[in-house]
Amino acid sequence: MALASSNMVVEIRGFRKEFKSALLRKRLVAVKGLSMEIAEGEVYGLIGPNGAGKSTTMKALLGLLQPSAGECRVFGHDASKVDARHQVGYLPENPYFFKHQTARETLEFYGKLCGLRGGGLKARVQEMLDLVRLADAAERRLSGFSKGMLQRIGLAQALIQDPKLLVLDEPTAGVDPIGSREIRDLILSLKGRGVTVFLCSHLLEQVQEVCDRVGVIYEGEMVVQGSVDSLCGAGDEVQLSVGGLDDAGLQSLRRWIVEQGGSVEAMARRERSLESVFIDVVTQRKGGHGV
Ligand SMILES: Nc1ncnc2c1ncn2[C@@H]1O[C@H](COP(=O)(O)OP(=O)(O)OP(=O)(O)O)[C@@H](O)[C@H]1O
Ligand SMILES: [Mg+2]
Repeated sequence: MALASSNMVVEIRGFRKEFKSALLRKRLVAVKGLSMEIAEGEVYGLIGPNGAGKSTTMKALLGLLQPSAGECRVFGHDASKVDARHQVGYLPENPYFFKHQTARETLEFYGKLCGLRGGGLKARVQEMLDLVRLADAAERRLSGFSKGMLQRIGLAQALIQDPKLLVLDEPTAGVDPIGSREIRDLILSLKGRGVTVFLCSHLLEQVQEVCDRVGVIYEGEMVVQGSVDSLCGAGDEVQLSVGGLDDAGLQSLRRWIVEQGGSVEAMARRERSLESVFIDVVTQRKGGHGV
């Protein structure tokens, strides 16, 4: 049944999932009554430690596993019904591909599964290869692909049918920092086109950059949920970046701040992040084209 009035693309209410252990006597409760919603056009990030229940929640949303209790709805449809999946793209945690196929053949295969044919299929496959920067590797077999390249094929596969909801289970796992930034930019451009995105990731800096709202899940329970602005919004602490002062100058600055009634929480000469060193070196090597 479709919900007429809600603009919620994803609705999860009291979702509980129990797994029976191999011994059959013990039950593992992976998710314990989780509720969340994702509005149309929103980018929502689910974060939490290993084993918290992120992938289980995503799989339930895709109808890949049945809730023990509660309900999961996508575009107003029960997630277990095929109708719910028409406009959904999914990048699983460990995508499985036929390794003997080339990148192009793989995307053609998934395109056909989504009902694309002929010239439309060919054009869409090429568009996806360009989008994830695999056009040069289009005729190579996946057996020779690196982890990051396989992840890009997984993303292209998830996007082939031009979904309205994209579910990404750790989209940047195994991808190098430049590739990660490209995926971040891709998610932002999809958001710009109105695509709703549900992702989970352990790269919290990226989650903060890309998501509108975030949920923190711990041992199968939603602990905190809210907009990134409300969770990470500025307090009364100010970060000041100063150049050109020697140690004596820094000490005077510190004294002045204290005289004004403030306090200096941290003052240290800043080192560059390893990420920025990496990106600079690789970008220069590539010929200064940036990312
Ligand atoms: N098919 C399964 N059978 C039994 N237990 C499972 C199954 N799938 C998941 N679990 C268990 O459910 C819990 C949640 O797993 P889940 O994969 O959802 O965690 P996660 O938050 O995605 O973790 P990660 O960050 O490591 O990917 C874990 O304890 C896991 O071992
Ligand atoms: Mg997972």
